[in-house]
Amino acid sequence: MNLYGKNIILGVCGGIAAYKAAELIRLLKKGGADVWVVMTEKAKEFLSPLTLQTLSENPVYSDLFHNECNYPMPHIDLAKKCHLLLIAPATANTIGKCASGIADDLLSTLFLSVSSSVLIAPAMNNNMYTNPVVQENIKKLKGFNVNFVEPEFGELACGEYGEGRLAEPDAIVSKIKELLSEKKNLTGKNILITAGPTHEYLDPIRFISNLSSGKMGYAIARAAKRRGGNVILISGPSNISPPPSIQFIPVKSADDMRREVLNEYKKADVIIMAAAVSDFSPIRYSDKKIKSKESEGITLKLKKTSDILSEVSNRQAVRSQKKIIVGFALETDNIIKNAKEKLKKKNMDFIVANSINGFGSDLNKVAIIDRRGTVEDIPLVSKDKIAEILMDKIEKGLKVKYVK
Ligand code: CTP
Repeated sequence: MNLYGKNIILGVCGGIAAYKAAELIRLLKKGGADVWVVMTEKAKEFLSPLTLQTLSENPVYSDLFHNECNYPMPHIDLAKKCHLLLIAPATANTIGKCASGIADDLLSTLFLSVSSSVLIAPAMNNNMYTNPVVQENIKKLKGFNVNFVEPEFGELACGEYGEGRLAEPDAIVSKIKELLSEKKNLTGKNILITAGPTHEYLDPIRFISNLSSGKMGYAIARAAKRRGGNVILISGPSNISPPPSIQFIPVKSADDMRREVLNEYKKADVIIMAAAVSDFSPIRYSDKKIKSKESEGITLKLKKTSDILSEVSNRQAVRSQKKIIVGFALETDNIIKNAKEKLKKKNMDFIVANSINGFGSDLNKVAIIDRRGTVEDIPLVSKDKIAEILMDKIEKGLKVKYVK
């Protein structure tokens, strides 16, 4: 892919890797892009704006109020023309400001103003990079659909060895090409996704649940949004921030989830049930805390929850319409055999079979099985990658249904 007609805004922060901005501009220009540079005040200590102005053949911006072009609001003007905002190198300070919505200079204000994709390439000392505060900020930004090119391991400017070196400019430019070539094949399609565990309360403070983190369902929601879908995410309790610009419906119990799914499924073109819905809930709920003296020999009586996926897929409205239904199978043994049976029994188009090892992790090893019983084994990859592979299959499935 070439970058002709694309305006890339390059935000440069104050770190020793700032000099690599020169090479980035050269590669981006070589690919055909127009490049506009925004430097933080500290970046100017490391690198002369004149260098980047000469290479980009555009004025370099760093002040919110005063700039060479006399634009009254450079952050708005730059945001309007921006096809992709790249922050490279990104310091812990700028990442922290972006994650917290602090807009106290041109770059952090621009970050909040752009509606384009954002790609951040961090570079810093390895202890800073692995510091939980920085990692938490990165995680938060990823939850807002901000893309990252991870830094590399290697010798750092401080003399230490570790993770923190700015990714190679070639790798950054490849990622930009990948982001800009993303297809919006789900534009106009309504995608209903369930995610996370459910909580089945015994009393106001105790519940039955499972180890689901919601990571898979949220990754699917992000992938569907990136492809232009109208996403409705119905999620049980999870610590992950929902992606922006989607309809988010938080729920607690299997019953709440059932109610919301039944409210929303009719208008959905694709229904993806990634939630780990509890199969049972207590028959009796005590609205007062069960006291310890009552718990001696206590017996919990449970009832089966309604199988939301079966209920939806068996409804006439779904059978007669061209909806794609995707379910998950969580198994401890006979994974493929059990998943195939579930696919048939619950009338799905695809089932994603996985073992309990993926719980809570960013990675998983799954198999995706279609209606004809074809099994595609996916090796251990990120849940974001699994979501992309699944969305490719769903797109193809939608095409087939609409041609029929
Ligand atoms: N599911 C659902 N409602 C339930 C239970 C499960 O909609 N009450 C959905 C899940 O979201 C998942 C699929 O059904 O997409 C399979 O869930 P799983 O827990 O693996 O299977 P179960 O049908 O509960 O079967 P079992 O527990 O016996 O393996």
